[in-house]
Amino acid sequence: MSDALEVFDRRESEVRGYVRAFPVVFDRAVGSTLVGEDGREYLDFFAGAGVLNYGHNNPLFTRALVEYLERDGIIHGLDMATSAKKAFIEAFERLVLEPRGLDHKLQFTGPTGANAVEAALKVARQATGRTNVIAFTNAFHGLSIGALAATGNSHYRGAAGITLDNITRLPYDGYLGADVDTLDLLEKMLDDPGSGVDLPSAVIVEAVQGEGGINVASAAWLQRLRAITAERGILLILDEIQAGVGRTGAFFAFEESGIVPDIVTVSKSISGSGLPMSLVLLRPEVDVWKPGAHTGTFRGNNLAFVSARAALENYWADTALVDGVAAKSALLRGELEQIAAENPELGFVVRGRGLMYGLACDADRGLAARISKQAFTRGLVIETSGAHDEVLKFLPALTISEDELLKGLAIVRESLAAALAE
Ligand SMILES: Cc1ncc(COP(=O)(O)O)c(C=O)c1O
Repeated sequence: MSDALEVFDRRESEVRGYVRAFPVVFDRAVGSTLVGEDGREYLDFFAGAGVLNYGHNNPLFTRALVEYLERDGIIHGLDMATSAKKAFIEAFERLVLEPRGLDHKLQFTGPTGANAVEAALKVARQATGRTNVIAFTNAFHGLSIGALAATGNSHYRGAAGITLDNITRLPYDGYLGADVDTLDLLEKMLDDPGSGVDLPSAVIVEAVQGEGGINVASAAWLQRLRAITAERGILLILDEIQAGVGRTGAFFAFEESGIVPDIVTVSKSISGSGLPMSLVLLRPEVDVWKPGAHTGTFRGNNLAFVSARAALENYWADTALVDGVAAKSALLRGELEQIAAENPELGFVVRGRGLMYGLACDADRGLAARISKQAFTRGLVIETSGAHDEVLKFLPALTISEDELLKGLAIVRESLAAALAE
């Protein structure tokens, strides 16, 4: 540990995590570059775990925020009406909901993703009068108790201290191999009075699982899931907290499948600037809340609304961002497939969509963490995911340049060689 980190070691709780993987005091950042207190630059393939889809300190948002601050715009608003919130809702309606034919209402929850998931589960249970919820293997929905019950990873579940109830776990797409449609099991269990599975209020699912190891649900699987749930009056919740806001190419990761979820959770990159903000989108008939029945002090982070609106207006009024993601996605996938082909003995599997990719290695489950560590010494911030941390996770800003992407990939190659030589 360097002297610069001494105070964290001495005074910060043992719960701290990322500072252990990336042991540097970061000071400034712009675009895809982080700068340490000592002036060293790091290329960012992590993007704040999906919060910084438009890069760090995007000047378009900084300008909007500074102007808002200088005119003494409201910063904290609970859920009172403010001009910043009004402008955000109008922009979201015009640039996200209407072009996609979605009639969902917007619920502003507390600022974390887990806050949005808690609200989604609560309203689904209220709307249906049923308690059970189906969640999938390797799902990650947050760590507050309700959301944690839906999360799969035993490392997190073990910290709950109480039983995690009212969730039935079923296999995600691909969990039993490429040849098995796991929805056969879901459908059979729902229709068999002997299955022991209570009719659920909702099914909660990520279209692409982030923390669970970059597992991609096929469009056909999501379509069938939508049909199974719709036929039985079960609400479908799409957790778009990590895969949404352009990460997989389209604004929502479920868009490719053409389904319409009953409830959608959105957080992380929605504010664009990294300021905390979360939303739950509800089909009007699911919006059964009584006024004030679900509150929270920090539902009105107006600075987040200002940058969120700037993000929508600058990046979602045309297709430049989406086109750029498609081009960089092809480049990233091509490079990863090449790395896999060059190392057949490691059995790498490349998974992902858009700029959300994983390089999974089951043959050596410690390899991804060793590559990440080697990469950090070479100035690249890249994390791991998956139940065994066996997946090297590529999550660069959507605004990263091709040069930066290639530079990072070159570091990954060097780091792989160094990790294998260790
Ligand atoms: C899909 C998904 N849902 C929910 C969450 C929880 O969000 P937060 O950490 O802001 O509570 C995350 C966080 O990584 C996530 O990836």
